[in-house]
Amino acid sequence: MDMIKKSLVMVTVFAMALSTSVLVAGDTETDEQEAVESEIMESEVVEPAAVVGEPAELVEQEEEIAAEVAAGEAPKGREIAAGACAGCHNPDGNSIIPTFPSLAGQHPEYLLKQLIDFKADEGGTAARQSDAMTPMVAALSDEDMEDLVAFYAEQEATPGQTTGSEDLLAIGRVLYHGGNIENGVPACASCHGPTGKGIPPHYPALAGQHAPYTLTQLDLFNKGERTNDNGVMQQVLTRMSGTEKRAVSEYIQGLR
Ligand code: HEC
Ligand code: HEC
Repeated sequence: MDMIKKSLVMVTVFAMALSTSVLVAGDTETDEQEAVESEIMESEVVEPAAVVGEPAELVEQEEEIAAEVAAGEAPKGREIAAGACAGCHNPDGNSIIPTFPSLAGQHPEYLLKQLIDFKADEGGTAARQSDAMTPMVAALSDEDMEDLVAFYAEQEATPGQTTGSEDLLAIGRVLYHGGNIENGVPACASCHGPTGKGIPPHYPALAGQHAPYTLTQLDLFNKGERTNDNGVMQQVLTRMSGTEKRAVSEYIQGLR
């Protein structure tokens, strides 16, 4: 009976949300993307407000981070990256190993927040746990982090290529742009943008990211093992199926 109630609420909220929802079109859009977007605009879009409440209040470190980002010096960041990070993230931040994330072109605010979150306070635990990244950030000063994110944000992201099957991509595409009214998964596009470029400072770019990395993150959020987003993504993913997670990860890899 709860389920029925919930669906009714979802449908009502969705109907309200639909009347106000606008998809922002990027400059570099292809005809194909435009066709996809107009098709999706005419269909159902599950707005995140129905699932996770008001997302704008969820990041506290915001102002501090904006000031720090402005202080970063990319040439210094390039030097540190070449020595400490290139082995896994590639010299220009376009990782070639699918389990290591690409960093090139990512918003500096998001990158800086992640580096801060990977670093454990003295005696404490890190807000974002990672066996790979914890030792990497241990030796970085605040200034190093600012310089590093300035460098990576400036790098051009290699355009994504899809490897998933047509069927999987079709599921991923619908979910990404419209969500799933049946199980209440909100549209990824409403927070991460219709072309996956993200919305700084809160919402990271996803476009072109390696599918295996994305899938790992979705699982970590889902299991509550990554919580440094204040649980927003966990709520997004609560009712998402394994196939949907794989499908949307594949679709994201092809977004550009
Ligand atoms: C041994 C390989 C390795 C090295 C070296 C490494 N990283 Fe990472 N990095 C990873 C892995 C793996 C992840 C994914 C972490 C996770 O979620 O478990 C990651 C994640 C990240 C993220 C988060 C990306 C996102 O989209 O959320 C940032 C930022 C990052 N690394 C920056 C750096 C910087 C800066 C350096 C150098 C100081 C560095 N990394 C060195 C393996 C590495
Ligand atoms: C209500 C807004 C919202 C919605 C809807 C949303 N996300 Fe997110 N997502 C976030 C926030 C906020 C973060 C960044 C968390 C942080 O600061 O660490 C994030 C982070 C992520 C990351 C981690 C990126 C990285 O580089 O590690 C992935 C992957 C992701 N989202 C995928 C999705 C997918 C797929 C969907 C749709 C099923 C979706 N998101 C829907 C808010 C949202």
